[in-house]
Amino acid sequence: EKIAAIVLAAGEGKRMGSGIPKQYMLIKSRPLVYYALKAFEESTVDEVILVTGEDEIDYCKEYIVDRYHFNKVTKIVPGGWERYASVYFGLEAIEDADYVLIHDGARPMINAELVQKCIYYVKKYRACVVGMPSKDTIKVVDEENYAVRTPERKTLWQVQTPQCFEFDLVKKSYEKMMENDDGKATDDAMVVETYGNVPVKLFEGGYDNIKVTTPEDVRLATNLVRVRKIFHKL
Ligand code: CTP
Ligand code: MG
Repeated sequence: EKIAAIVLAAGEGKRMGSGIPKQYMLIKSRPLVYYALKAFEESTVDEVILVTGEDEIDYCKEYIVDRYHFNKVTKIVPGGWERYASVYFGLEAIEDADYVLIHDGARPMINAELVQKCIYYVKKYRACVVGMPSKDTIKVVDEENYAVRTPERKTLWQVQTPQCFEFDLVKKSYEKMMENDDGKATDDAMVVETYGNVPVKLFEGGYDNIKVTTPEDVRLATNLVRVRKIFHKL
């Protein structure tokens, strides 16, 4: 059975507000997206599609894929105007696969072990995503940030990536979404929940599987990567 992965690195990083897109910021001398690609390279995934900005393709090929010998990266394709569009173009670039794992290039704490867990669960559930139970109470607010309601905490999970699906299921779901042109999906599960017919299972990744989003996260990720390196040497 063929397992593909899509690594997303086509965002602009507006909330980071640095000069370069955050996925290329250096964390311990390596571009942020290196860490996700490395995890997939060390896993049993067969093929990786890297989705980047159109102007970043040459840079990614020379300075990331070739330089670090990421041999599983078969294609580097341009992304789109929103995350869901980048995913859609990534899916289109896959010629054939049984399963696909969709991962944010801005989540460096993924490792081969988590990838293997994803493969195990997707074979079992057909549609599943990594997340963690919310530690904080979450409020729904109005436009002026007044609390509207408080959903029961134990029903709330924070969703992470990888988000993992049978390839045909997620591809067809995305195609339907693009036809309907509703650009509201902020994750892939939402697309399958709306347009697919398979329930999406959540399973635990780890609280350290952060998405580098704002400047504080760069410091946090640097420390997490450093600590992980030390542990690996023990
Ligand atoms: N992404 C993408 N294509 C887009 C938007 C986002 O491939 N059009 C990717 C990002 O590169 C990132 C992941 O999707 O790896 C999660 O998105 P997010 O954290 O929102 O990144 P950005 O969109 O770059 O950041 P911001 O929303 O602050 O602009
Ligand atoms: Mg974004």
